[in-house]
Amino acid sequence: MPSTDTLTVRDIAANSLAAVRVFEKFGIDYCCGGKRPLADVCRDKGYDTESVQSELDAAMAGAPPEERDWSTAPLADLADHIVGTHHAYLRRELPAIEARLAKVFRVYNMRYGPCLTGLPEVFRTLRSELESHMPKEEIVLFPAIAAYEAASNSGRPLPRMPFGTVANPIHMMEAEHETAGRCLTQIREITNNFEVPSYACVTYRALMSGLDELERDLHMHIHLENNILFPRAAKFEAAHK
Ligand SMILES: [Fe+2]
Ligand SMILES: [Fe+2]
Repeated sequence: MPSTDTLTVRDIAANSLAAVRVFEKFGIDYCCGGKRPLADVCRDKGYDTESVQSELDAAMAGAPPEERDWSTAPLADLADHIVGTHHAYLRRELPAIEARLAKVFRVYNMRYGPCLTGLPEVFRTLRSELESHMPKEEIVLFPAIAAYEAASNSGRPLPRMPFGTVANPIHMMEAEHETAGRCLTQIREITNNFEVPSYACVTYRALMSGLDELERDLHMHIHLENNILFPRAAKFEAAHK
């Protein structure tokens, strides 16, 4: 990466959503006030430039690709992976995206007239749906699936669950996934496929790339649940009845 003495915070942020997150964490303005070299900003804020730089490098290097075969891994491991990766992602990113959205919506509607109409409402619906959805999986469904698996592995009968068959909470979760999917479709429509206008600032750019990434992450998340975890859990229950 070019020297932090010359490269501005805004230049770094414009090319990397991972860098935007690091700047947000440190409270570094990467948008309108970001036209300054990173080293200068760190000096003013009392940060060690090398520490910030190494966080940036680590974040921008990205996470290793997923390699595990979830069609055969233990169900408890898959549930842990979903919570640790995708639920953690949503808990971290939903508030960050909403903060960018609030700023962009206010400034761009004021400066350029009506734009992104309806996006704050759809995003709020998506966020509140997901924030009430995840605990149901974490507290009810995933522990039940893990308990079935543990009982079976140790040769005990499957424990009785208050919801009867596991198909009941699964149907509820699938219906909630459809609601989330409809919100994602609306977000794509409102943003014209995450289009970035020529006059957009870095926060606008980060908002669109954040929404784009949210959609991809949520699609993978729902795929792991609807297409792998839930059918395997249902089959597992049927096989041990
Ligand atoms: Fe989930
Ligand atoms: Fe889910």
